[in-house]
Amino acid sequence: MLVAGNWKMFKGTRETVAFFQAFEPPGGVEIVVCPPFTSLLAAVGRGIPVYAQSVHWAAEGAFTGEVSAAMLVELGVEGAIVGHSERRQYFGETDETVRLRCEAALEAGLAVIACVGETEAERGAKETEAVLQRQVAAIPSHERLVIAYEPVWAIGTGRTATPELAREAHELIKGLHDTRVLYGGSVKPENAAELMAQPGVDGALVGGASLEPASFAAICRAAAA
Ligand code: 13P
Repeated sequence: MLVAGNWKMFKGTRETVAFFQAFEPPGGVEIVVCPPFTSLLAAVGRGIPVYAQSVHWAAEGAFTGEVSAAMLVELGVEGAIVGHSERRQYFGETDETVRLRCEAALEAGLAVIACVGETEAERGAKETEAVLQRQVAAIPSHERLVIAYEPVWAIGTGRTATPELAREAHELIKGLHDTRVLYGGSVKPENAAELMAQPGVDGALVGGASLEPASFAAICRAAAA
């Protein structure tokens, strides 16, 4: 099982250090923390692998606001999230830029958590399968890459996919791509064990509940059990 905490745009350096002082990771589960760019250096070297929340595909260049894979490697960062739905929704991320970011990260030696997931409108229009097929087709295969299934309607809403729904989507994705698949979308200490018990669910990508050391540790323990 792999449990990754995506802090999104929360926690500067001070709060990052405080998190690690309080966080008590259980054994028997792979744990990753994904702070904002400016907090990465404060997070590395504290016993938990650190991933960035995105990575650019060019080695360097005139790309204001972006960070390259080599820059992350130099910091001691071990991986990156790519194609999070918030990047797709608010920052123009496309399947093509997801593919470019994944390839550059893997080439530089980083691990990748590549995100896919349908919106509420797409699910309502019965397009879930087509959307997941299209998104997954853009993601390269690599031993250092895992996919995260994050139904957009379940992110930050408190509405988790039912275990059956998660299982269905994970089986579909695994039929398209031979990789581990994490579930993301309102994973909490209360629902983590049931979600991660589903066949095809290989871990979790946790947003809000990864910000508190105690709740993130509880989710990690549920994965280890
Ligand atoms: P929440 O756990 O806050 O719903 O966020 C999920 C997510 O987007 C993780 O990447």
